[in-house]
Amino acid sequence: MSAVGTGESPPLSPLVDRGARGMHSRSELSGDPGGASPAKEKICVTRQYQFCAAHRLHTDALPDDVNRAVFGKCNNPNGHGHTYTVLVTLTGEPDPHTGDVTDIEAVDRLVNQKIVERFDHRHLNHDPAFLHLVTTGENLARVIWDELVNEVPVGRLEKIGLIETRDNYFEYRADPSPGQKPPSVPWSPGAPGACIPAVS
Ligand code: NI
Repeated sequence: MSAVGTGESPPLSPLVDRGARGMHSRSELSGDPGGASPAKEKICVTRQYQFCAAHRLHTDALPDDVNRAVFGKCNNPNGHGHTYTVLVTLTGEPDPHTGDVTDIEAVDRLVNQKIVERFDHRHLNHDPAFLHLVTTGENLARVIWDELVNEVPVGRLEKIGLIETRDNYFEYRADPSPGQKPPSVPWSPGAPGACIPAVS
């Protein structure tokens, strides 16, 4: 599934929407509460994407009865699925000519390749990133951050938002300083879990 367009506005960040080909935009300045110094302003751009995936909340580090107690029906052995919405927020210095802080189309290509194609209609528990991680929304947001933080073509990654259900929203951000470690287990299209259909 590819990036979604305007759709519903997420209940959080400044959102830039350019339609399919960058026909229009809306942005918001934030940062310096006083707004006195343009040098302290920060412009954020958020793009949203969707994918459907199955998962089961379970850890082998705990006995089965504890897993059931902690995760409830989300520990059901057959798993269950979600339509995840990923909100990728970038920030940077606006280009003096275009006003853009990033290359939206390049970001779309990146996120679709690294995140959407990887997870859409897959079982998260079978993805190498979750070999030793419970497939919670918290961990999924962090995995997505790790995949993107060093790959953003222009600007820098500000945060990852993840809407899992109507009532569950997760957010992850970290210092994207040098030394940010790449994902510990590289993923490729032929990796385990790549052909596992999601549970409906
Ligand atoms: Ni779930």
